Amino acid sequence: MPTSRSGSLDTVMQEARRFPPPDDFARRARIGSLEAYEQLWNRAAQDVEGFWGELAKELHWFKPFSKVLEWNEPFAQWFVGGQTNVSYNCLDRHLAPSADPPRADKPAIVWEGEPGDTRVLTYRQLHREVCQFANVLRSLGIRAGDVVSIYMPMTPELPIAMLACARIGAIHSVIFGGFSSEAIADRNNDARARLVITADGGWRRSGKLPLKANVDAALEKSPTVEKCIVLRRVGNDIAMRPGRDFWWHELMANASPDCPAEPLDSEHPLFILYTSGSTGKPKGIKHTSAGYNLFVKKTTEWVFDLREEDIFWCTADCGWVTGHSYVVYGPLTAGATVFMYEGAPNWPQEDRLWQLIEKYRVSIFYTAPTAIRAAIKWGDRWIDSHDLSSLRLLGTVGEGINPEAWMWYHRKVGHERCPIVDTWWQTETGGIMMSPLPGAIATKPGSCTKPLPGVVPAIVDEHGHPVEAGRGGWLVITRPWPGMLRGIWGDDARYQEQYWSKSRHNYLAGDNARCDADGYYWIMGRIDDVLNVSGHRLSTIEIESALVSHPRVAEAAAVGRPDEVKGEAVAVFVTVKNGEPDDALRQELKRHVRKEIGALAQPDDIRFTSALPKTRSGKIMRRLLRDIAAGKETVGDTTTLEDYSVLAKLREQEE
Ligand code: WTA
Repeated sequence: MPTSRSGSLDTVMQEARRFPPPDDFARRARIGSLEAYEQLWNRAAQDVEGFWGELAKELHWFKPFSKVLEWNEPFAQWFVGGQTNVSYNCLDRHLAPSADPPRADKPAIVWEGEPGDTRVLTYRQLHREVCQFANVLRSLGIRAGDVVSIYMPMTPELPIAMLACARIGAIHSVIFGGFSSEAIADRNNDARARLVITADGGWRRSGKLPLKANVDAALEKSPTVEKCIVLRRVGNDIAMRPGRDFWWHELMANASPDCPAEPLDSEHPLFILYTSGSTGKPKGIKHTSAGYNLFVKKTTEWVFDLREEDIFWCTADCGWVTGHSYVVYGPLTAGATVFMYEGAPNWPQEDRLWQLIEKYRVSIFYTAPTAIRAAIKWGDRWIDSHDLSSLRLLGTVGEGINPEAWMWYHRKVGHERCPIVDTWWQTETGGIMMSPLPGAIATKPGSCTKPLPGVVPAIVDEHGHPVEAGRGGWLVITRPWPGMLRGIWGDDARYQEQYWSKSRHNYLAGDNARCDADGYYWIMGRIDDVLNVSGHRLSTIEIESALVSHPRVAEAAAVGRPDEVKGEAVAVFVTVKNGEPDDALRQELKRHVRKEIGALAQPDDIRFTSALPKTRSGKIMRRLLRDIAAGKETVGDTTTLEDYSVLAKLREQEE
């Protein structure tokens, strides 16, 4: 195939730092050298089906599968003809007397609520509660194939509800607790949910989230929902509608703990998760059972190099895919101890994360760049007073991490001792696709490094041709993988169009990336966010990272604004760590970017702002900033925006 220059992206980033795996880490790691990684990756690439077929023996099968993969592009079926149960793999498998190692009395979930209340559930106890709750669901008429919406705070009952659905084959749709009643109703209706599980509230900065009130409003507009189960969490004064609403604790009091896991087809849907990313109308991403389960188990073990004694803390809410895959299904299938926290990271003060790591001796900490940038902004004094010596591995997910934020994480949280795994993946991919294996692959700040075994990416231009080495282009995945989405709920046409129509035979991730001379991947941002300056196509993250490398900058977002001469001018929005920004800083930042990455990327406009518009999961919404930079009204969907006042403030500055 010819390689292409047109349509590819320029790169201006200079990042030469490299951090090999620490020797003692590599020595104990599951995959402890680059050669071991390469061997595994090559074996998987040569024989995708043999590779996954062999690993699938690690799951429990009620009925063995007859074929590893049935690929009818773009529709995949993995482990055809087999029967398994995801809840069985997460729980029962660890309880069997023959389990090696035995885990019945091992803590599965260690939890702390925002007010400081705590709970520990061993695998045996978690199993018991899941079985009871599965019987509760059945008693309300829920059967395999029914959709259940879950709108709950981060309490242990949230994974219990998910696992109980999985146990009987009900399909869960978890809706993040920060979403409005409109969003709940839309999701209930699109999925035709029959039941909603919620709570009287959840704690957030000592306030009580009105979860049940939001559900009540949503149920006025959700004709398919018949019943609602309510967990008592905060003691909010709520309305309970007789015949429709039931208390969790009352139903559980009478529920039998005997509930064998239902054998389910490998491709039985496990969950729907609505995502819009930072653009467009939410779509219900569909994941199924066996392939997803195997993929999250193996990626948890590989990327987090899981050991029996680890305390694993992924800070994501279960309302996001990260919470599905790395709070619940991955770590529990792998037999880990998961730590969960209910509330805000800055409550009662800005050191809560560090205080929890110290108190619970967390050994693996996995969070989002937005949380790291917030911690940097809050200041080092919050972290310096805590003993973080229990940590041995750090991770990030959700956005690119600016190299300077990476360095802060490395120094301040990891004390230059812990490898950092920058994991690239998506709701659609089900699990981690690219990441360093911490005992095998040297890291470079800002790069998600290499694909995991079984994942074969490529970088192509808009015609599907591979781009010249080192240049940026569309990131595609060239082979099916077991954790891949199986479609968009109720919309095969959109699935086909969105992910499979633009690059023949490849899955289009929607991100730009480049691959450097060492075979390391660098994610360059969403395709829709590219800037086109004087014929050069620039990525957002490179300009933003140059800004963040200035000591006064906390966060930055770069967008293109129409410009008659250059096509697009570079407009950036910047928040500073402290102090009042002024015109002198503005000039200094322009010079700084020019020096770091060159004149081409020098910002034309710099606007200072106290906050950037973000999705509720913390991603910067550049689409909205683009409208503001162009002086346009915002068109399109803003329902995923976390804080509407941020947009209003940015607009006021306009006037
Ligand atoms: C972005 C979250 C750079 C990317 C698991 C992707 C990243 C989108 C990274 C998916 C990373 C996620 N480096 N960008 N390590 N991880 N992204 O569906 O744009 O919430 O397409 O899944 O987040 O977001 P989603």
